[in-house]
Amino acid sequence: MTDPVEPVRRAALEAPLYRDAMARVASAVHVVTTIGPQGRIGLTATAVASVSDTPPTVLVSVARPSRTLAVIEASGVFCVNTLPGGAEDLAEIFASRRAIEGEARFETRPWGRLVTGSPVLLDAVAAFDCRLVAVHDIATHRVLIGEVVGLGGAGRAAADPTSLIYRGRRFEAI
Ligand SMILES: Cc1cc2nc3c(=O)[nH]c(=O)nc-3n(C[C@H](O)[C@H](O)[C@H](O)COP(=O)(O)O)c2cc1C
Repeated sequence: MTDPVEPVRRAALEAPLYRDAMARVASAVHVVTTIGPQGRIGLTATAVASVSDTPPTVLVSVARPSRTLAVIEASGVFCVNTLPGGAEDLAEIFASRRAIEGEARFETRPWGRLVTGSPVLLDAVAAFDCRLVAVHDIATHRVLIGEVVGLGGAGRAAADPTSLIYRGRRFEAI
């Protein structure tokens, strides 16, 4: 028999317990990109959700010290690129785990542009090209609300039909 998840009720729940619980939840992995005066930039993010389809709207929660966040706020645009199963390397690069910086981060895969000029991963499961329409500061993060003005990615023509998932602090393809 597997151990049940121990119920925990606290007035102020500790962050490590919260992180352990959240680590059990499988999340799609995305690279959120934009373009600024210094060129293309982006970060790996799992805190992405659909908000509405009328108009098509997504949210991304970004830690306030993020370098990409500052560029998104200046440009007013971003693209959510949902990664295919084989893109673990890209997720690591854009999470700053490979000591690769700047334009070199974009050299391992083909990128294009749609409506806003933000980098669009051509073999993404899906790409949501957005105009920034609102921001909300919550705790340590800034929640970006984007209206989707273009859709890209490989879709059904994808060479790799799987999606990259992060669960148990590891990448998997499903
Ligand atoms: C699987 C995974 C998911 C992540 N999700 C987020 C996220 O949703 N929001 C966030 O701000 N950072 C997230 N990060 C951390 C950023 O990718 C990382 O801090 C990155 O280096 C920030 O880059 P920047 O400062 O150049 O923008 C995640 C990292 C990993 C490995």
